[in-house]
This record gives sequence, structure tokens and C-alpha cells, in this order.
Amino acid sequence: MSPRTFLRSRRTAGAMAMVSVGALSAAAVVFGGATANAAPGCKVDYTITSQWQGGFGASVTVTNLGDAISGGWTLDWDFAAGQTVQQGWNGRFSQSGTKVTVQNPEWAATLGSGATATPGFNGSWNGSNPKPTQFRLNGTVCTGTVTTTTTTTTTTTTTTTTTTSGNPNPGTRADNPYVGAGVYVNPQWSRQAAAEPGGSRVANQPTGVWMDRISAIDGNGSPTTGSMGLADHLNEAERQRAASPTGELVFQVVIYNLPGRDCAALASNGELKPDELPRYKAEYIDKIAGILARPEYARLRIVAVIEIDSLPNLVTNVTPRATATPNCDVMKQNQNYQNGVAYAVSKLGDIPNVYNYLDSGHHGWIGWGDTVPEYDNFFASAKMMASILGREGVTKSDVHGFITNTANYSALEEPFWTVDDVVGGQQVKQASKWVDWNDFNGELGFATAFRAELVKQGFDSGIGMLIDTSRNGWGGANRPTAKSTSTDAAKYVDESRIDRRFQKGNWCNQSGAGLGERPKAAPKPNIDAYVWIKPPGESDGSSTAIPNDEGKGFDRMCDPTYTGNPRNGYNLSGALPNAPLSGHWFSAQFQELMRNAYPPLS
Ligand code: GLC
Repeated sequence: MSPRTFLRSRRTAGAMAMVSVGALSAAAVVFGGATANAAPGCKVDYTITSQWQGGFGASVTVTNLGDAISGGWTLDWDFAAGQTVQQGWNGRFSQSGTKVTVQNPEWAATLGSGATATPGFNGSWNGSNPKPTQFRLNGTVCTGTVTTTTTTTTTTTTTTTTTTSGNPNPGTRADNPYVGAGVYVNPQWSRQAAAEPGGSRVANQPTGVWMDRISAIDGNGSPTTGSMGLADHLNEAERQRAASPTGELVFQVVIYNLPGRDCAALASNGELKPDELPRYKAEYIDKIAGILARPEYARLRIVAVIEIDSLPNLVTNVTPRATATPNCDVMKQNQNYQNGVAYAVSKLGDIPNVYNYLDSGHHGWIGWGDTVPEYDNFFASAKMMASILGREGVTKSDVHGFITNTANYSALEEPFWTVDDVVGGQQVKQASKWVDWNDFNGELGFATAFRAELVKQGFDSGIGMLIDTSRNGWGGANRPTAKSTSTDAAKYVDESRIDRRFQKGNWCNQSGAGLGERPKAAPKPNIDAYVWIKPPGESDGSSTAIPNDEGKGFDRMCDPTYTGNPRNGYNLSGALPNAPLSGHWFSAQFQELMRNAYPPLS
């Protein structure tokens, strides 16, 4: 597994076609363009998430209780005690006197009936910091009910909104499989975690079950899957489901065995050669599909995470890019990544209780959007994903969503700065090597924007996103606690950022990383769940060459003394020393992940 970045070269700001997230502008408020509600109503949950002397952070969840809004929304309120918004996200903030106005982010102009949006901001206060007493959505005061009643010829009815949870009809997919459901705890991983000092604090967390070789289907005694094969895991999952309070359980399986796997790296090279698509289909996917389709597993909600890194590699790590590798060129040319992914999605998509989520890299890899092809990873990746529609019989309904950050270390969001900040007269986007023109500095912004682009490229408008937060916590002693005061833009970013990697292209056993957000259903609009797909404590690759029969190579990105390649901008690898083969238990890393967890472990 080797998510990797593509470094763009420096160029002038003028030509950038950007997706902007959370810009704080002083511009006048524009109310035009918003659709008026026939039956308006809304409620707001305003939470001060942290507060310190003179400053605070807050999130504002607005729920649209009225008719669906298309074409943009505006939320406003007054700060009675003179508080000032400094920096906002998930919305375009402006302030005039005491009045704060938030417009929808450019990439999310609709707010369905019952849907929520959660803009957030950091602000300053002086004396006191009372919560606002009134909020308005498109001018309607949010009272928690619908303000207009609809009169019919015989009765007067009040419109109310209900949200669905769980899956009322087995055989019909839930909109978000994680809502109202438990998630499978893998006993093999759980045992490894619990055996570590302090490990019992996380040992009951759900993690992904990786089918990383054909032999994993029957159980190959590997350190990660142990002796349990796929059916053993499903039997145990069915037991956990029956014992769960809601009777609903998500089982997370990772499909990871493409021909010519991991073409831009060596640590997770697989067993199948670039041209072994027929074996992939017959001995791997067909066999997995046959097991998942058994009637005794029909009540499980099976989330299939499809082929980490594969399609993004075909966009960024191919000729004529400087980041090209010969193996990725081969896979692009023979199309066996697209064919294999399409076959998996189509076959698994035929099973009514399987939810396919395709891997789409992470913001530090795909987060560059541009109209110039050689600088564009974002739009080209969405197009690459869409190229599987129609292949091997894939339809839109076979794709339930996408996942970002699988087995990577990219933070959900940077709390203290944005890529649009201007410091000392310089745009950080341009001046900071860390940003290097990337349009995002976190997975939430990226996943949300990428989702919108995927819908534009032809995927269903109901798709949801997953984010792997297993190792993107970045807590511990070195986590900054406030924004830097430096007036040098590059220094400002380096001192403010929580992600402490040398460079975002670093992917192997990162030193300083911590466990991220615990797995959670529907944490944000359009995000189906935070998940731990990479089981924390399992290595990304060995730090020296180790002979093995798993098809795993030695990638110097896992060697702490390595000074890099074009895909990480020739930086130090940042990897921990003494790591075992990928997928094998790495106790020292697990300990470090617990130490640097954010939110911290109690
Ligand atoms: C890596 C390994 C694979 C393992 C997975 C989860 O990608 O190559 O063997 O199952 O990580 O730890």
C-alpha cells in the first residue's frame, strides 16, 4: 500500500482553477440566488468546541426542516458581545458589525429537506462569549419547527421531516449503511491490540478485514488475518450482529489483490503479475463474491473497500509525469486496473447487501485541480473513476461511495490555518512548500469536493464518502496548540500545521503519527463514516529487505535513512526504524500511535 503524491512545480497564481473551501472574506453579503422555501424551517446547534483567553472555536450545525433548498443557502446571526470571526470553514463567512453571515460552500449549494450543514470557525472574544440567541436560514428564523402550514381542502397539515435510519427492508440498501448499525470488531486484530500495554483502550474498535492474497480467503495463518478465513469472519460478524442492540452490523472487507498491484511502490506488491486478470477474476473475486452472497450473511451490511491506490496511480504515476514508474505505465497500457476494479464492483454490486466504496487516494495526492493536464490530479482522477462505468457491466447503482485516506496519514482538517491564508503579503498556497499549490489541507475538504466532482462525472448523487482516520490523529507533545505568529508564509504553515510529516507524499510507518478520530457514523454531511480500514499496528512495509513468500518487496520509503524520490519531493521518508513486512504486527508503531492519538486516549 503506497499512497503517493504528485508534486507540482511552482507557477503563477493567475492560471489556477481552484476549488476553494472555507474562505473568510470581507465581501458584502449577497442573498440572491437562494431558493425561497415554500415551507421554511430550520434548527441550529451552535457548539463552542474549544475556548481559550480571547479566542474560541465553534461549529454551527444547521438542519433544514423545510423544503429542499437548491441554488445556495445563507445562515446569519448576531454576536451580542462583539465577537469576531477570524477564520471559517465549510462555508463562506463574512461579518459586518455584529452580524455574521455564512453562505454555502461553492461545492455544496443544495440543502435537502432534513439535511444538515456544519460550518465552523475560529473567533475572538473580549469580556464574554455568549452564544447567539437567534439564527436565520435564508432569512427565516430557526425555531426548530416549520413555520408555514400547508392548507388542503379538508385539513390543515404541518409539514414535518423524518430521517431514516437502519435498513427497514433487507435487500434494499440503506442510504448510509453505518447509521443505526454496529461495526464488526475483528477478533484477530483485537487480540493483537489488547496484548499491547494500554491496548485495551482501543482493542474494541472496528477495523477492516483485508483479503490481501488469494489464500486469505480460506485463511492463511498470516499475522493479520490469523487462521480465520473470510467465512469465519462472516460467521463471527453474524454472531456480533445478532447480539447487537439494533440488529444491524457493518462488515468491512478490503478487496486488495489486483494484477500488478501497488505499481508505484514495492512494499505491497502482490502475488498476481500484471497480466493475470483471469486469475484475479476466477480465483479471487468470484470466490469472494460466492461467499458474500450466501443467504446466511444476507442480514449483514457488507462494506467492500475496493483496491487501494489503483486508479489514482494510473493518473499521477504514469508517463509523461516525472513521477512515472515503469509498472504503472504497464498497468495503464493494459487497463487491467480498470478492468479488475470494474469486475470487482460489478460482481460484488450484484449482491444486494454489499456496499462498494472505491478508493480515491487522499488530499496530499489527488488534491491538485487544474485546467492544465500536467498539473491536474483532481479532475483527472474523478474522470478515471468514471471510466469504470459501463465496463464489465458496471452501473451507477453498483457504486455506493468512495473512500479517502485509506492507510494514509493525512489529517481530517488543519485547525489553525487554510490554504487561502495570506501571510506577510504572500499566499501560503504559493509560498509554502508543504502546501505547494494543493487546494486542500485536509481530508474533509477534499472528500467533500471530490464527491461533488464524482457526481458531475456521472456517479449517483446519493454517493457517500468514508475517511480512514486510523492513523491521522497527529496529537502528542509536538502538536501545535495555536496558529503561528510568524509573518513568513512558509514558516507560518510549518509552525501551525498538525500534520508533522516531512512531506505529504510520505506514506510508510510515519514517525509522530497518532490514532485519529474513532470510527463514527455520519460525522459530517455526505461523509458516511470515519472508519479504521488500516488496522493500526500493522506495518506499511519493512525498513530493510526481508525475504518472504507474500510477494512483498522492499521499498526504501520505509527506510528512515532514505532521502526520497520524485513522489515525495526528495524528502526524508519519515519512516520508523525496525519495521516488519507490510501487514505484520509492529508493536513500536502501535505504541506510538496510541501515544500520539488525537483525540487523546483517556
Ligand atoms: C498492507 C499489506 C497487506 C495488509 C494490509 C493491512 O497493504 O500489504 O498484507 O493486509 O496492509 O495491514
